[in-house]
Parts: sequence; C-alpha cells; structure tokens
Amino acid sequence: MTFEPYPFEKLNTLLAPLTPNKALEASVLTIGEPQFETPAFIQEALSSSSSELKKYPKTAGEAYLNEAMRTFVTKRFGVSLQSSELIPSFGTREVLFNFPQFLLHDVENAEMAFTNPFYQIYEGAAIASRAKMHFLNLNEKNGFKPEVDERVLAKCDLVILNFPNNPTAACLSLEELGQWVKLALKHDFVLLNDECYSEIYTDKKPASLLEASIAVGNTDFSKVLVINSISKRSSAPGLRSGFIAGDAKILTSYMKYRTYIGAASPLPLQRAAAAAWLDEEHVAVSRKIYKRNFELAQEILGCTVPEATFYIWLKVDDAIETTKRLYSEYNVKVLPGEYLARTDEHGENPGIGYIRIALVENETKTKEALLRIKEVLK
Ligand SMILES: Cc1ncc(COP(=O)(O)O)c(C=O)c1O
Repeated sequence: MTFEPYPFEKLNTLLAPLTPNKALEASVLTIGEPQFETPAFIQEALSSSSSELKKYPKTAGEAYLNEAMRTFVTKRFGVSLQSSELIPSFGTREVLFNFPQFLLHDVENAEMAFTNPFYQIYEGAAIASRAKMHFLNLNEKNGFKPEVDERVLAKCDLVILNFPNNPTAACLSLEELGQWVKLALKHDFVLLNDECYSEIYTDKKPASLLEASIAVGNTDFSKVLVINSISKRSSAPGLRSGFIAGDAKILTSYMKYRTYIGAASPLPLQRAAAAAWLDEEHVAVSRKIYKRNFELAQEILGCTVPEATFYIWLKVDDAIETTKRLYSEYNVKVLPGEYLARTDEHGENPGIGYIRIALVENETKTKEALLRIKEVLK
C-alpha cells in the first residue's frame, strides 16, 4: 500500500484550476488550527527560558512537565496517574504515527481498526506497520458512533477511536467508552482513544477513556491508552506538546522505542507547555468563542450545536461541487468529507455527501463565512 496524499493536497488539486472571487476576503475553514494568539503567559514562559537551548532534551521529558500533564488529567478527569503511566510527546501526530509501528513491529499479520472518517495519520501508521485496516464507519445511521463487530475486533491488535471526533464532532459517553474497554480486554487488543478535542466542548465535559477504564474496574489501564494535545486546547499547535497515557507496561517498552525516534521536546518548549497544561482560565476563554461559533452555525445554517470540537460536519447534495462553488463564488475554503474517509469493503465511503467546516476564526469572520456558505446551499 502506498501513502495517500494529505486531504489538503487533494483540495489544492481540486481548486487549482479555479479562480476565487477576489472581491471577497479569503476565508479558510479547512485546517483545524485555532486562529487566535497563543496566550501571552505561554509565550513568556517560552522566551524567558531560551537560554536552556544549550542542553539536549531527554526523551522522557522533564519531571515537571510529566507532573503538569498528570495534574491536568487529575483536575479534568479525576484520574490520578503514576509518572510511568504518562509520556510527554512532541505533539500527538508523531505518537499516532509511530506508536502503532512500535506496537505492531513484531506482530505477524497485524490488524488495526479505526474510525472512518479519520485523522489521516492513523492510516499512514497502518500502512507503515503493514497492518490490515478495518474501518469503523461513522455515519448518520449509527449516530456517528462506531458499531461493534466482534468477529473483526477479535482479529485486531490495535483499535484507534477518536472521541470527541474529528470531523463528525460526535462524542461517546462514559458508559459507551466503558463498553469499548471491556471489548479490548475480552478480545485482547490495545485500545487507544485520541482525545485531542476533549477540551473544546460546549457545555458537557466529554469523558476520557481513562475514566471509563476505571469505571469498569480496569484500574491499571491494562490495554488502554489515550493521547491528548495542547494544540487545540491552548491555541498553540506550534508548541508541539502532547502526551500518551495509560497502560504502564506498554508505555515502559514504548519509552525504550522512543529513545530512537529523536522527538524529544526542546527545554524552552517544555517550560511553556508545562505552564499551559497547568492553566485552565485561557481554555475557558477559547471554549466561549467556539461555542458562540457553533451557535452562529445553528442560527445561519440550521445545524445542531455539537457537544465538542470546532467542526461542523455538514450534509450537502454534492460536496465536491459545493466546495468548488464556495471557493470560486465566495472565496471560502472548506474540505470535502470524502477526502477524510475511505471506501470500506462494502463500498461505503461515509465522507461522501459531507463537507467539514472548521470554525476556528473569531465571531465576525465566522459569521461572514457562514452567511456565504448559506448562499451556496440555497
Ligand atoms: C484528531 C486529531 N488527532 C491528532 C491531531 C494532532 O495534533 P497535534 O500533533 O498538534 O497534537 C489532530 C490535529 O489536527 C487531530 O485533528
């Protein structure tokens, strides 16, 4: 199998022959990158520690960063972790790509399942691991929640969930996550939930797979892992701070593997990241903005306000045509859903007929963009 071009590359190819309506200011709603300043206290923590660049950073990260992340997990999810149950990472993309390769490197005929549509790194990791892929389709029929096929799960070595979900914005309850933990234990697969959007919620706080693991009695997180990131939470995707947490036995040998990767975070970045993980006030400010953006989408496009993320997964008649018209007539860029999904063995591509709109701008720009989208959907 070969690596697929990234969704943004496919979009560039689609739009290249078109000319945008230059009379209107460009509106880019494609990438999940918050368009807000990284809070000043985070930037200050970074600049005031630049003299620490003279040192090589350790793979395991500094103890203060590991502790700051565990403090976040305790405050947010009521779960207390040992330091061996968490590894700081250089953002989460690198983990999502190399963790499957670590886990599956000596597994013959490895099999891996993940939600579909998906963050494309999961697929890249499966290809790099030479693992057979199974798609857990998220569609209107199943309420964008993965259906359980125990015959498939029994063959899997690794299952990646992503709730709150990019791009559908669906969430799983504590009980639903608990069912997945039970399945992982029953069928002996490693279960990883990508929780990058857990902090971008409207009202109800999304549950973590770690909480669910405890709730079903799996208190040592056997077979269970989560990843989380500061990129969306703190409007700091450039800081590259994330973590993987859960099963200490798996993490201890993954730590050994990580010494070869060379993804240790520079010390000034670790200082800034620790400050960010320990603060909650700035996150509450961002949440208000995203909630307001969702309310605008409800008012203007009539869609329901999702529980979390900043994505609108909008059903349209023809996603490719809608994307092209939005660009040429209104200078708005969105992503066709089919670029984020794959066709499964039954011929279903759950991304077809949807566009993903990333509401990562301020209220004024968001409103303007949504009004233009409404014009095209008329
Ligand atoms: C679902 C999901 N997981 C992981 C990531 C990676 O985030 P980062 O590497 O910035 O932590 C993203 C980024 O867009 C994402 O959407």
